Amino acid sequence: METQSIQNNLEQREVLVKVKRYSKERGEYWQEYKLNVDRFTQMTEVLRKIKTEQDPTLAYRASCHMAVCGSCSMKINGEPRLACKTLALDIVKKYNSNVITLEPMDFFPVEKDLVVNLDDFYGRMFKVKPRLYPPKEFMEGTAEPRLRPEDQKELWKFAQCIWCGLCVSSCPAVKIDPEFLGPAAHAKGYRFLADPRDSIYEERLKILVDSSWRCTYCYQCFNVCPRDVEPVTTIKKTRSHTKFLKDKGEVARTGEKHVKAIFDSIKETGKLEEAKVYLTTYGLATAIRDMLYTMRNGKVGFAMIKEKKINELDQVRKLMGE
Ligand code: SF4
Ligand code: SF4
Ligand code: FES
Repeated sequence: METQSIQNNLEQREVLVKVKRYSKERGEYWQEYKLNVDRFTQMTEVLRKIKTEQDPTLAYRASCHMAVCGSCSMKINGEPRLACKTLALDIVKKYNSNVITLEPMDFFPVEKDLVVNLDDFYGRMFKVKPRLYPPKEFMEGTAEPRLRPEDQKELWKFAQCIWCGLCVSSCPAVKIDPEFLGPAAHAKGYRFLADPRDSIYEERLKILVDSSWRCTYCYQCFNVCPRDVEPVTTIKKTRSHTKFLKDKGEVARTGEKHVKAIFDSIKETGKLEEAKVYLTTYGLATAIRDMLYTMRNGKVGFAMIKEKKINELDQVRKLMGE
């Protein structure tokens, strides 16, 4: 029985790997490779075999082969993934096909084949000052830099980022808003914002708070992160620090108004009254401009929906602590 199971595990299966390649000389083109894989073949192993046995010109990055270095990020069958954390046969099973496509990550400029340029990504990461700035007593040895277990519990998840860039590649906000730091930088920034041993809290607020209100809460970063860092959770938590920031920017002020408008709407009716929340947040002039836009696009009906109060509103207010 055991021998049978080992044989099943080692059974070879042929896959067709289609790689989206790029070089300055040839531009973009697809190339296909056939090879055998078994139950244990990681996608980095697929690439290594292609490069060493079939085509030494293929370029890709990988180092640790164990989801630690963050260098093998790419799109596999269209999904942002770490190649080393992806088994070839899992993809075959998931898509019920022996064809596997490999493409470079979205958003990043391609250097060659699956290798992308990470300069902009690292620029964003370093903007948030990704290290602890301890107070001078710690440096002079007159105080002990201890972290309480509850603080460690809060920070642990967010400290697991391996700078792979997958969340950024799938983030719609980062693509359209140059002022938005992006999910990975927010995860890193919050990890230190919430660290009680850090000494530059005010400076971190200035760097992070305005940007945090530029996220659209689409949760793509949550879905794709191979380390379960939950960047969107750090963005939410950073927003809750807005009240401590002096001299807030326009985006943060609007964000605060929006949250209050939602809270008031639910308190009054038990529901989210979209049109009213919009009007309270953005003011009459913007609301009229956007109303004209929705009319032109045949969507004005949605904006005019009048919500009825729910029954037992007092129960909702009780839940809200009112
Ligand atoms: S939730 Fe925010 S940070 Fe995450 S992918 Fe969506 S827009 Fe980007
Ligand atoms: S937050 Fe997750 S997906 Fe984003 S860079 Fe860090 S490890 Fe990668
Ligand atoms: S090779 Fe290091 S994360 Fe994949």
